[in-house]
Amino acid sequence: MSLTQGSEDRNRVVLRVSNLKLNFHTYGGDVKVLDGIELYVRKGEILGLVGESGCGKSVTALAIAGLLPQNAEILSGEILLEGKNLLAAKKEEIRKARLSEIAMVFQDPMTYLNPVIPIGKQISEIVESDRQLFLKPVIEELLNESSTSRAGYVERKKLERILKDGNVSKREFGKLAKLYAISMLRKVRLPDPERVYSMYPFELSGGMRQRAMIAMALARKPKILLADEITTALDVTVQAQILKLLRELKDQIDASIVLITHDLAVVAEVCDRVAVMYAGNIVEVADVERIFSNPLHPYTKGLLESIIRPDVVKDELKSIRGSVPNLINPPPGCRFHPRCPFAFGRCSIEKPNLIEAEPNHYVSCFLYG
Ligand SMILES: Nc1ncnc2c1ncn2[C@@H]1O[C@H](COP(=O)(O)OP(=O)(O)O)[C@@H](O)[C@H]1O
Ligand code: SF4
Ligand SMILES: [Mg+2]
Repeated sequence: MSLTQGSEDRNRVVLRVSNLKLNFHTYGGDVKVLDGIELYVRKGEILGLVGESGCGKSVTALAIAGLLPQNAEILSGEILLEGKNLLAAKKEEIRKARLSEIAMVFQDPMTYLNPVIPIGKQISEIVESDRQLFLKPVIEELLNESSTSRAGYVERKKLERILKDGNVSKREFGKLAKLYAISMLRKVRLPDPERVYSMYPFELSGGMRQRAMIAMALARKPKILLADEITTALDVTVQAQILKLLRELKDQIDASIVLITHDLAVVAEVCDRVAVMYAGNIVEVADVERIFSNPLHPYTKGLLESIIRPDVVKDELKSIRGSVPNLINPPPGCRFHPRCPFAFGRCSIEKPNLIEAEPNHYVSCFLYG
């Protein structure tokens, strides 16, 4: 597929999903949720994954993170993390990827936090769970911090010694893990991180909790951070603060961020590129400016006409006619054809491929190419 030919992107790609097809087995029949997802994430970028509710954004993220529910069946495809196919990897590699290469933050932190363990402890426990894996990142982070603080010469020498010979007792690593967790809480700009370390999830506001979840994800030093509707439940002001935090973090962390949202305004605010999803397919991918200035896919055009945009004067907001298809019996051919104002004969028979319509701008629609 043409996504794999991407003009100048090849060397900067960290994650690539190709032809990912996935069904859910249910009593009502197989739900054909992912219909051949094509996606790549560049190093250091924020990629927006956008589409209406139910189009498969979360399922795509869960597949990448290896967190799919029991009734999911992957029919085909590859998920390549730095070239390594996670769908075919050995158990130990998959465990490592889940623990330290791909991290996910969800809309509702309360579901994922343990209510009876202090927030900071939940972070330090992650790194304590695999001392070997996390020794280096923990010490490097602390060394980095101590170079900007007044932490003593002796302390630095000790850290350097541990880094060099890898020798540290469980108890001592526990202490370092706590300092590391505090450092992560500081990174996400939580005020008074030493105090927040000992607080319980219910003692934090929604916005603080989401920051803590981001800290917990960053503690793994992931290459990919999947953020699934993380601001959806927050009020507008707090939402803006979290989005600002993501933008700031982007330059400080070594991870690419996939920001999943149904809200194009959020995409416009923080993303570098955007992938538009419809009924289990990626239908358009481009730089954010390009998507807003020159949308190609009829679905993307419809989405843009349904939102308020400061850059466009319009009399009325249009909504896309029809409704999201049932995925037990999805429409044949282009899954958008029953709702598409431009549909023609071929659209209900054949499925369009994602093609590069202009440099780094991909679309799957028979009107192009
Ligand atoms: N465990 C499951 N069993 C059956 N169907 C599911 C399951 N999880 C999700 N789905 C279905 O998969 C589709 C995509 O869901 P999801 O990825 O959560 O959408 P989005 O995140 O874009 O709103 C929906 O039709 C949803 O009902
Ligand atoms: S392929 Fe046909 S139905 Fe699908 S978006 Fe393009 S014109 Fe519309
Ligand atoms: Mg979702």
